[in-house]
Amino acid sequence: MAAVSEGPMHEGLKKEIEAYEKRTPKSREAHKKATARIPLGVASNYRAYDPYPLFVRDGKGGHIHDIDGNEYIDFNLCFGALMAGHCHPAVIKAVSEKLHTGTMFGMPHDAENALAEEICSRFPVDMVRFSNSGTECTMHAVRLARAATGRDRIIKMEGGYHGLHDSALVSVKPKINEVGDPGAPNAVPGGEGITKATLANTVIAQFNDLKAVERLFAKYPGEIAAIIVEPIMMNVGILMPEPGYHQGLLEIAHKNGALLIFDEVKTGAKLARGGACEFFGIKPDIVCLAKSIGGGFSLAAFAARREIMNLITDHRVFHGGTYNTNPVAMAAGLATFREVLTPKAYEHVTALNKKLVEGYEKQIHKTGMTAYMASAGANGALMFFPKPIRTYRDWLTIDSDIWRHYWFAMTNRGVMPQPYWWDEQWTISVAHTDADIEKHLEVFAEVAPAVAAAQRERSVAAAR
Ligand SMILES: Cc1ncc(COP(=O)(O)O)c(C=O)c1O
Repeated sequence: MAAVSEGPMHEGLKKEIEAYEKRTPKSREAHKKATARIPLGVASNYRAYDPYPLFVRDGKGGHIHDIDGNEYIDFNLCFGALMAGHCHPAVIKAVSEKLHTGTMFGMPHDAENALAEEICSRFPVDMVRFSNSGTECTMHAVRLARAATGRDRIIKMEGGYHGLHDSALVSVKPKINEVGDPGAPNAVPGGEGITKATLANTVIAQFNDLKAVERLFAKYPGEIAAIIVEPIMMNVGILMPEPGYHQGLLEIAHKNGALLIFDEVKTGAKLARGGACEFFGIKPDIVCLAKSIGGGFSLAAFAARREIMNLITDHRVFHGGTYNTNPVAMAAGLATFREVLTPKAYEHVTALNKKLVEGYEKQIHKTGMTAYMASAGANGALMFFPKPIRTYRDWLTIDSDIWRHYWFAMTNRGVMPQPYWWDEQWTISVAHTDADIEKHLEVFAEVAPAVAAAQRERSVAAAR
């Protein structure tokens, strides 16, 4: 992904990959077999990486085992969808009860309203509809915004991720030679199969650039339905908004008759009880939730004020789905909201995150690594960049081989520090303990000097 890593792999990374291959022969074999029937051998492209991904056997609390029997403290947690940790007892109990009384009916039941009440008590919204994935809920949010405004275009931030539907799969990971003018970025399709018409309706600004958003409204007067944004960009490590950014987006949108959609798929459960809305004190027009609200089951929701959701009530916007509100997912969601995402849980993950971030910062300082720590709520990321990134384009210059060195070295020592890919971040779960954080820091202290040394060597070589 990153241009600076296109040269040969450095020795330290090579050795860690060799060690990974030695420890995980069953994963290699399983992956090889799977590629015959499953493209890339995985069910989501994000799960594929070289030389092959780990195949998992089981997980409990904050730990998992791969199929070779190696144990890892898991800070990946299914790409941040498990602030509950694996098999949280309250979630498993609630779900187990449903397994004997019917798992799908396609008919209403009273857990739906109970969960809608939970969401409305935490987020500044009046009504909720449920679905099964983040992709679905951002797709419905965009459709609602289009219906509410009678307009087709949306503004999306370069490098932002909102799932896999066509309108959103634009400028997710454009290459440096594709991005174009920083003040007016190109709309770059995230793969083939997206129609030119769809592409024309997703217009792009860089994150943290309010002026660019204003220019887009001026360029397309009366044509933009909504701005969709991750309140904290968590598909480029962690990219924080500058002070006033969200308020600025909200004001520009409303001044121009458009809506603001907060994609809280990652932030909704993990940043605070009321997600980014509470954390930043913002009342967006539509909120999208998924991942950690399900406690380990497929659950997503989109929510808004009554007037917007009434587009569904009035049969102007259609929303449906066979699997929506299946009793298993709803039981998991209710248990998660009531028994996992408690004020105490936020204190717990925030305290552990602080300890982990401070421990990392000490090592960065001690080893002279060119990096900084970014964190928010239950999430943190080691960012191999000299100063806090402001945009996707900053992130794009990160040396991915140095990041890979870090990831393989940590993983080889029993700490999966985050999902594979340097655009992700770690998640602390309610199941993690002080001892897990200490072990994570011990392993980082062992790994950091070699990573820092490799980084110095590579930057000297690049300067030659
Ligand atoms: C911010 C954001 N929005 C939407 C999605 C899509 O969610 P899903 O994978 O459940 O479709 C993701 C997934 O990572 C995400 O991070």
